[in-house]
Amino acid sequence: MIDAQWIAARRAEFPFFTDSGQPPPAYLDNAATTLRPRVVATALARACTDLTGNVHRATHHWSEETTMAYEAARAAVARWLGAAEPAEVLFTRNATESLNWVATGWGQARGQPGARVLVTAQEHHSNLLPWRAALQRCGGACLVAGVQPDGRVDPDQWHAALAQQPQVVAFPLVSNVTGIVNPVAEWARAARAAGALVVLDAAQGLIHHPPLALAASDFDFVVGSGHKLFGPPGIGFLWARRAHLNWLPPPLLGGEMVATVTATTAQWSEPPWRFEAGTPNIIGALGFAAALDYLRGLDRDQRTNHLRALTQYAQTALAAEPGVRLVGARPESAGILAFTVEGIHPHDVAQFADAENVAIRAGRLCAQPYIEALGHESLCRASFQVYNDESDIQRLLVGIRRARAFFLAEHKP
Ligand code: ALA
Repeated sequence: MIDAQWIAARRAEFPFFTDSGQPPPAYLDNAATTLRPRVVATALARACTDLTGNVHRATHHWSEETTMAYEAARAAVARWLGAAEPAEVLFTRNATESLNWVATGWGQARGQPGARVLVTAQEHHSNLLPWRAALQRCGGACLVAGVQPDGRVDPDQWHAALAQQPQVVAFPLVSNVTGIVNPVAEWARAARAAGALVVLDAAQGLIHHPPLALAASDFDFVVGSGHKLFGPPGIGFLWARRAHLNWLPPPLLGGEMVATVTATTAQWSEPPWRFEAGTPNIIGALGFAAALDYLRGLDRDQRTNHLRALTQYAQTALAAEPGVRLVGARPESAGILAFTVEGIHPHDVAQFADAENVAIRAGRLCAQPYIEALGHESLCRASFQVYNDESDIQRLLVGIRRARAFFLAEHKP
C-alpha cells in the first residue's frame, strides 16, 4: 500500500525535499546513491565541529573522544550486520574498495596457478574486474555463471560451475541493473559445503534486506557502501570473519597499522587497525552510524510494503506506456526498474526526464556484461526509496512522452 501520509513524513526528514521548491524533485536514482536525511547531515556537522584530534594516536582527551566515537561507529555497524565482534568490520571508502581488498589480498595470499573463482554474469564491474585481475596475476581462471533471458542467474550453469570446485564464490545480493534479488543464503550454503570462500556484494539491496545476521551465516566476506544506506559517500565496510583477518594482507602500509617497526622488520597491529593505515574517514564513519540509526528507526514492514507497492505501480505504469519495454522486471524486485524506450537512446531519455526535474540513471550502469547478456547496449533505470510516490512515476512518464514526441516523427505534436 502506498501511504501518502507516511511518505510526507519521510520527505519532511530530507533537506533535499524541504529545501526545494514545489513540486518537489522526483529523485529516482536511489540505486546510485540515496539521499541523506537531516539527522545524518546534523551528525556530520557535529562530527566536524565537536570532534578534534586524530584516532588511536594520542593521549590527550580530544583524541580519546574521537577514538571512542569512531570505535562506537564501528560497533554500530557490527551490531547492524550481526557480526560476532566489531573487529570484523573494517572501514573502507566503499564497496568497490572492499572488493578490491578481498580479491587482491586473496590473490596475494592464496592465489595459485589453476585457482578458480566463480562469479555470475550479473556482477557490477566491482565484483568482476578485481577477481579477473587477481586471477590473471596468479594464473587462475574466472568461471562465470550465465543469466537466463529473464535476467536471473541460470541455476544449472551456477551449480555446474560450482562442481568445478572454485576456491572463491562471489555474487551480488541484488542486481544493481534489474533489482533481481538473488537466493544468496542458498548459494552461500552450497558454496561453503563445496569448500569455497563465500563473498557477498551487498552494496545493492542491503537497505531493503532483512538483517543479515552474519555471525550465523555462511558468508566469509560481505561488502557495502554507506552512500546507498542514507549515509555519506566515501565510507563503506568490509566485513570478514575473524579467522580470515589473520591471512588477508593489509592493503596499505604505514601509520597506525603497525605494532612495532625496526630498521628492517615490522609487526602488524591487531585487526581491524591493521587494515586501516593512515587517518581514516572519521567523519564519514560517524555519518554512517547516524544513517543506520535512521534506517533502524523506520518500520521495516512499512518500508517493505511501500517499496513493493511502488515498484509494482511503476512496473504496471511503464509497461502500459507505448514504446517502453521493461527489462528483467520481477514482482519481488528490490525497488529497481530497468527499461528501454524504443528508438531513443537511454541517455536522451534521462535528459528529457531531467528536464522534468526527474532523476534516473542511464547507460551501462557499471554492469556492461550483464546488460549485453540481456541483449542491450545500455538501459534506463529508475530506483525507488521511502520518499518516492506515484507522482514521481507519472512525471517520469511525462519525460518519456516528451522524449518520444521529440525524437519520433510520428509522435510529434
Ligand atoms: N553502483 C551504483 C549504480 O548502480 C553507482 O548506479
